[in-house]
Amino acid sequence: MTNKTEQKIQHVAIIMDGNGRWAEGRAHKRIWGHIRGSSVVANIVEEADDLGLQALTLYAFSTENWSRPQTEIKTLFKLLQKFLVKERKKIMDNKIRFNVIGQIENLPEATVQLIRDVEKETKDNQGLKLSFAFGYGGKNELVVAVNNFVKKNPGKYITEADISRNLYQPDLGEVDLLIRTGGDQRISNFLLWQVAYAELYFTKTKWPDFKRSEFRNILIDVAGRERRFGNIDCQDSLKSNTQLAKGNQRSIGSSTHV
Ligand code: FPP
Repeated sequence: MTNKTEQKIQHVAIIMDGNGRWAEGRAHKRIWGHIRGSSVVANIVEEADDLGLQALTLYAFSTENWSRPQTEIKTLFKLLQKFLVKERKKIMDNKIRFNVIGQIENLPEATVQLIRDVEKETKDNQGLKLSFAFGYGGKNELVVAVNNFVKKNPGKYITEADISRNLYQPDLGEVDLLIRTGGDQRISNFLLWQVAYAELYFTKTKWPDFKRSEFRNILIDVAGRERRFGNIDCQDSLKSNTQLAKGNQRSIGSSTHV
């Protein structure tokens, strides 16, 4: 039987989609949607922290996004930098560990430096593991993981555990819940390995309109789903989280509630 703490929603990943359409619907340029969307990020991080989640991974810039117009790409870099400058103290105060997963060598040097500084500063924090996927692609992460393994273990047979150990942030573990805003129902090359058994939730709400209350309600909804992990009629259910529906928010992710 599975330990009850394993039944909880511990790692949530979000595809923050719909910024462009949100802006276009208001006759604004697409980048306005990203600017509004970036102000939502801090609220959702705060909510994840309040709910006691162990990990939150946000898809901020994919490998495919490199083909977008330069102005849009530069805006996204700037928003990332602004977020870190503005939230750095709060991240530290709340003992959040910050990481970027993905390939960021092509970002401006100052942005890379800031990312590395915040990662270093927060590396021993024991609270929420906050990751931004930036310059990230799931297939690419797997190629990098396999190549890392092969380099260290030439000629050796690779196992699932070897791949997991060689991902960008191995200790993030499996994703329990993947949320996508903006109405599309795709995974878009996000955390392909880690979402193998994730619950999926698609909302029509565009990211700039995504509120803490909707985030919490999604977690309540998903907490009531049964997860069987390919098994039949086993105990692997998130139903122990129904306390949450009765108003106990911390039962979502905190290991202090069983
Ligand atoms: C997808 O919307 C979203 C992105 C490509 C970027 C997401 C970025 C943010 C939410 C802001 C970044 C902020 C920080 C703090 C890193 P889209 O443009 O594809 O929307 P569309 O599907 O409506 O065109």
